Amino acid sequence: MTNFKRYTLTAALPYANGPLHIGHIAGAYLPADTYARYLRLRGEDVAFICGSDEHGVAITLGARKEGVTPRAFVDKYHQLMKKAFEDFGISFDIYSRTSNPVHYETAQEFFKTIYDKDLFIEETSDQYYDEQEGIFLADRYIIGTCPNCSNPNAYGDQCEKCGTSLSPKQLINPRSTVSGNTPVLKPTKHWYFPLDKFEGWLKEWLIEGHKDWKTNVYGQCKSWLDQGLQPRSITRDLDWGIPVPLPDANGKVLYVWFDAPIGYISATKEWKPNDWQKYWKDPETRLIHFIGKDNIVFHCIIFPAMLKAAGEYILPDNVPANEFLNLEGEKLSTSRNHAVWLHEYLQDLPGRRDELRYVLTSISPETKDADFTWKDYQQKVNSEMVSILGNFVNRVMVLTWKYFDGKVPSEHELPGTDDRRKRVLSLYTQAHTDLDKAVKDMADALKNFRFREAQFQMLNLSRIGNKFLADTEPWKLAKEDMEAVGCILNYALTIVGNIALAMEPFLPDGAASICKQLSSDLKQSRKNFWEKEAMVHIVPQGHSLGKAELLYRNVEDTEIEKQTERLKKHQPVVQAAAIDNPVKPLKPEIVFDDFAKLDIRIGTVTAAEKMEKSNKLLKLRVNDGLGGRTILSGIALHYTPEEMIGKQVTFIANLAPRKMMGTESQGMILMAEDKDGKLKLVSPIDEVSSGSQVS
Ligand code: 2FM
Ligand code: ZN
Repeated sequence: MTNFKRYTLTAALPYANGPLHIGHIAGAYLPADTYARYLRLRGEDVAFICGSDEHGVAITLGARKEGVTPRAFVDKYHQLMKKAFEDFGISFDIYSRTSNPVHYETAQEFFKTIYDKDLFIEETSDQYYDEQEGIFLADRYIIGTCPNCSNPNAYGDQCEKCGTSLSPKQLINPRSTVSGNTPVLKPTKHWYFPLDKFEGWLKEWLIEGHKDWKTNVYGQCKSWLDQGLQPRSITRDLDWGIPVPLPDANGKVLYVWFDAPIGYISATKEWKPNDWQKYWKDPETRLIHFIGKDNIVFHCIIFPAMLKAAGEYILPDNVPANEFLNLEGEKLSTSRNHAVWLHEYLQDLPGRRDELRYVLTSISPETKDADFTWKDYQQKVNSEMVSILGNFVNRVMVLTWKYFDGKVPSEHELPGTDDRRKRVLSLYTQAHTDLDKAVKDMADALKNFRFREAQFQMLNLSRIGNKFLADTEPWKLAKEDMEAVGCILNYALTIVGNIALAMEPFLPDGAASICKQLSSDLKQSRKNFWEKEAMVHIVPQGHSLGKAELLYRNVEDTEIEKQTERLKKHQPVVQAAAIDNPVKPLKPEIVFDDFAKLDIRIGTVTAAEKMEKSNKLLKLRVNDGLGGRTILSGIALHYTPEEMIGKQVTFIANLAPRKMMGTESQGMILMAEDKDGKLKLVSPIDEVSSGSQVS
């Protein structure tokens, strides 16, 4: 890695369609930030690039759901995400956005470069079209069953369950996500990137040339290439996006996955308008993409092929993609609001940025999915950050103030040959050997993107420090040999300083606090530390220390309870009836045939509005997998129309239609009446495909 002159690090551009949660942070941004900090500490030239991904169906559908324009929608979420990243201390060199003019220019120029090489295929073909809505259905506008893993809710461009990249025509039983209707086919012209023509080159470059990539990344790419590549459409019929820069491209825009990765280049241009090329075109620059596993094919196959087609660009040297993070044993879910939102965390637990960084790195989903629980968070903070790390630093500071009035004591070797002094010397030698090894192991792990292990080695420094203090017992020696106490505390302070240096990529706030306590910016030591990858000298004898302060505080039960309560509130789960519920008497018994007559199904609400002149009725459009139906439901006092959109409901599908206030209701939504008379939707705990029968 020393052969590279500089580094371009990219972290996946998050869609500006909702706030950030800890899954995003653990997946891409925290590992990327740790790595960027590490490289800067080594004195490397680093460009750490990110920004909001503001095009595509994730945006237009989100805006539609919130009833605002795509522009207003991305403005809102871009600001929210940018602020949360800043508040959390992610050290991007630039956080840009793909709606910036520089990005429009760059993406259009990129398209033109490939177009002028006559590489694109121009083709008119039949595409799915929603007649009711008057729109072509691509990407997330269409869902259906994944041909690879049978996930019933795979999108038109990708199945999020198995990661396969798809095109709408591969979906089994396709449905429009806007109306729920089965689409029809209609001809339209598009431009296709000939991915198939790059297959041979990709096999050579990736399969032969990057056997060093993580197994999960390499394996997914290999299976993709083994299946054979097809040309991919890189334009869309949408009214939100970057216009295709051709005279005969009326109304067509670039596909979001064509423009988004180019966003890394435009953001670099925005950051360094006169100097960006060296970060993208100099073969001595090392390009690394930090992403989650759902983005692997785009970064390892499609974007490299695009870069190759455009020519002159460097290619990613590594793509250390992470697996997913779960929360309290369940998948993180934006739609069910089952998440720890970064901005909420920062508000609820102020001054605890390092704590989240520490816990997320310690469970980083590097090789398999991981689980975040609040209990584990509390346990890791209290028994590792406070008891091991914070405690060691504090003991050393307090002892130095107590015995040497806050001045760094003797830095000379301990003279003398009596047994007690010999023992101290041998404990010092052992600690030094162990510490050097931990620093080396930490640096090796960092270089290889094994952040979990690297952080473990960082913490090991304080474990070794604690053992050194416990074994040498300076508080006992203080009665008889202050010279020995001085030597012990001098070395303990050296350990403290080296800990601060090692913490910097992982726990920047704690590292800064130690610098303050040591009353030193550690500038000279820092350079040596990362060059030598071993323990270094810290502050000279006689140097005055700052006041001792606690590095980290215990997380109290009440803090955790508040968070778990918040999660429970987030989740609309059907609660078991409360003991004091005045339960209604049972209805007369029925036979099985009576029950079998009912056709009970699950549908997904795609549109909802209040019925005029009624304060009780909502008019719902429900995707029933059969083309959709309208159902009137008496829930207006309990749910707003906005709340209903996207919810899964249980309904009687074969109830004879009934007209109410001039509108025909084609079914009945099932509700549970709570003890206080409130109506609650009866919904499946896990999402199922619309039209699923309940039996
Ligand atoms: O999956 C996502 O959230 C995408 N917005 C990631 C884009 S990464 C890059 F290519 F811009
Ligand atoms: Zn699938």
